Amino acid sequence: MKKILFLTLIFSLMACLPMSAQKAGTFEAGEGSFMLNGKPFVVKAAEIHYPRIPREYWDHRIKMCKALGMNTICIYIFWNIHEQQEGKFDWSGNNNVAEFCRLAQKNGMYVIVRPGPYVCAEWEMGGLPWWLLKKKDIKLREQDPYFMERVKVFETEVGKQLAPLTIQNGGPIIMVQVENEYGSYGTNKPYVSEVRDCLRSVGFDKVALFQCDWSSNFEQNGLPDLTWTMNFGTGANIDQQFRRLGELRPNAPKMCSEFWSGWFDKWGARHETRDAKDMVDGMREMLDKNISFSLYMTHGGTSFGHWAGANSPGFAPDVTSYDYDAPINEYGLATDKFYKLREMMAKYNNGKALPSVPKAPMGIITVPKFEVNEYAPLANGIDQIVADRNIKTFEEMDMGWGSMIYTASLPEIPSAGTLTVDAHDYAQIFINGNYIGKIDRVKNDKSVSIPATKKGDQLTIVLEAMGRINFGRAIKDFKGLVSDVTISAEVDDHEVTYNIKNWGNCTIPDDYETAKNAFTAKSKMFRANLPEGFGKPGYYRGYFNLSKVGDTFLNFETWGKGQVYVNGHAMGRIWRIGPQQTLYVPGCWLKKGKNEIIVLDVVGPQQTTVWGQDKPELDKLQLEKSNKHNNPGDRPDLNSDTPAAQGQFKGGNGWQTVKFGANKKGRLLCIEAASTQSGNEIVAIAEIYALDANGKRLSREPWTTKYADSEDERGNHTGDKVYDLQESTYWQTSKGASFPHLLVIDLGGEQTISGIEYLPRAEQGAPGSIKDYKIYIK
Ligand code: GLA
Ligand code: CA
Repeated sequence: MKKILFLTLIFSLMACLPMSAQKAGTFEAGEGSFMLNGKPFVVKAAEIHYPRIPREYWDHRIKMCKALGMNTICIYIFWNIHEQQEGKFDWSGNNNVAEFCRLAQKNGMYVIVRPGPYVCAEWEMGGLPWWLLKKKDIKLREQDPYFMERVKVFETEVGKQLAPLTIQNGGPIIMVQVENEYGSYGTNKPYVSEVRDCLRSVGFDKVALFQCDWSSNFEQNGLPDLTWTMNFGTGANIDQQFRRLGELRPNAPKMCSEFWSGWFDKWGARHETRDAKDMVDGMREMLDKNISFSLYMTHGGTSFGHWAGANSPGFAPDVTSYDYDAPINEYGLATDKFYKLREMMAKYNNGKALPSVPKAPMGIITVPKFEVNEYAPLANGIDQIVADRNIKTFEEMDMGWGSMIYTASLPEIPSAGTLTVDAHDYAQIFINGNYIGKIDRVKNDKSVSIPATKKGDQLTIVLEAMGRINFGRAIKDFKGLVSDVTISAEVDDHEVTYNIKNWGNCTIPDDYETAKNAFTAKSKMFRANLPEGFGKPGYYRGYFNLSKVGDTFLNFETWGKGQVYVNGHAMGRIWRIGPQQTLYVPGCWLKKGKNEIIVLDVVGPQQTTVWGQDKPELDKLQLEKSNKHNNPGDRPDLNSDTPAAQGQFKGGNGWQTVKFGANKKGRLLCIEAASTQSGNEIVAIAEIYALDANGKRLSREPWTTKYADSEDERGNHTGDKVYDLQESTYWQTSKGASFPHLLVIDLGGEQTISGIEYLPRAEQGAPGSIKDYKIYIK
């Protein structure tokens, strides 16, 4: 009787399963190991992101991961690419994540899904949709009723797409992540619990749930019923990373849920790389210790269109390429790192040979130089014009991405003065069509000098937004001019401040339709009154002919700043300063014969030529001024100052605190290192916090680097790395530069400081860690 009942159950279950579905299975965190269908299992996951790879290439990239010896694909779900307008979901084409998971399964891979709602990932706003900001006072990633309501709507849709694909339902999904590194944002267990409950309620009730964080902060939000995993990068001391977890949960399986193979690039700094050997050694050590991992990124791909995010503190927008110095490069090919890793992984494949490395779906082509010189003025892209007393942000204009032109009539200001405004992110100022200067948020610019004006002079501000910040508290990143515009000038021996009112607010959305229509649209009734001579911001169109289709790298080093569209596909941002000078154009988006390109250049090109190379250029800076902070004039004179503290740090990894004898007031935090633990001359610091009078960490939002005697710029180990919120990045002096080393941080204003917290490098033995130190507050 029992048997018959059982069989009927099986048959009725089978009847509701789709044809392709496989046998149901189980996956859970067991004692000391993950358990797959009841047997111990080490997760070897490859992180790749479906929107960063053209759909035509998904299968190839998955096969490349498999050829590395991986058994799982790890993905984020990017909320804002699926719900670009509130309530309108798109899971089709390149957004068809269910299809992506089925493809992984077809290739014999498991899948880990990280549905946010926040994902970080160097992605616009960390994956959150910009339209959330239309509710100005919204609290993101907290129990704000509107935020939580939208999270639930989104996750319900995710559930519809992916819950049928969990392992319990015969699909490939073995684990689902709750939120993302919440410890780097705050402490809020009720919020994290609500996200967990939400995920359970949308169909992820049987699949294993986990939380990822850093070893230094995972306890802040760790929920008792979830699996805890750690994130850390190449070179990190692995035992140290799992020490605390081992103390709290001695029998829990260990997993590095993001082992960083490389790092992302930001505009204006050198291309990041990480050593292949360190990466392979770390992964071998984990395999020897039965530690599961996900290699972030195994293949980074490209942040096409306007999807690249920005880092903070400060404003550090990410480049379009997400190559990441990963083993599989941006365009899907195996690198040296790939082969080194594959060789090691082959030894951990139960004696079986690894699948062969698949052939690339397309070859690489070059494109001879061609002209892109059909021109349409920027103003032709204007969509809405709103006259208002006040200046409006993008969000107030109901526009997500793009540029705005702001115009106002000036009063008579009899002497030269300073125009001040908070511009997100890149503003060019014109008076009567003449270029006056720019305010670049990357450089922390807030103002520009302007000449005396006559009543009725026309002020025009051309503003371009870059990606919204994706990390830290600054993710609430409104775009446009986000403060009043004021002009201060000396008038009759008095400083007078004029608050400019009555604005024309004009939106220029960033999309192909707008760009294309700019060439046919009659310029809207409004004229931006921009000069013909200066750079000529605007739309440029050209064509190139192909006899053979393939992947290529279009070079834009003679262009200014903006966006590129090829055959209607948004390819990504360009910016003269580099380091990225070429855009990856996948052959699957090109065609034989005539191909169209439109460049929106908000600054204007020096030459209107473009060509296709067979290699990317990801490391060519064309800066107006070097990034180094070693200008002797910026070095404060500390000779007659008494240190706030001096002594010796301990050796080894992990945070150390220095309490000052007495609170100190000042604006500059100066750290002097006279020796290192190892005895060699290279000093490194991963992170620094300053503590306020109550011993609490001060916000590092306004911090800038004032001076560093030496910075190893080749590895991007600049001073700002000590307050970039990333424990895996660090300031490091160059080989040969002699003691004492000095790093001076401008705190952005006077502060009362009671001590500091210091973190040396995360690598085994904490290379570069300081011994004798002096700290000054000035
Ligand atoms: C963190 C985040 C990732 C990514 C990496 C850096 O670990 O979780 O999304 O931003 O940093 O690349
Ligand atoms: Ca750092």
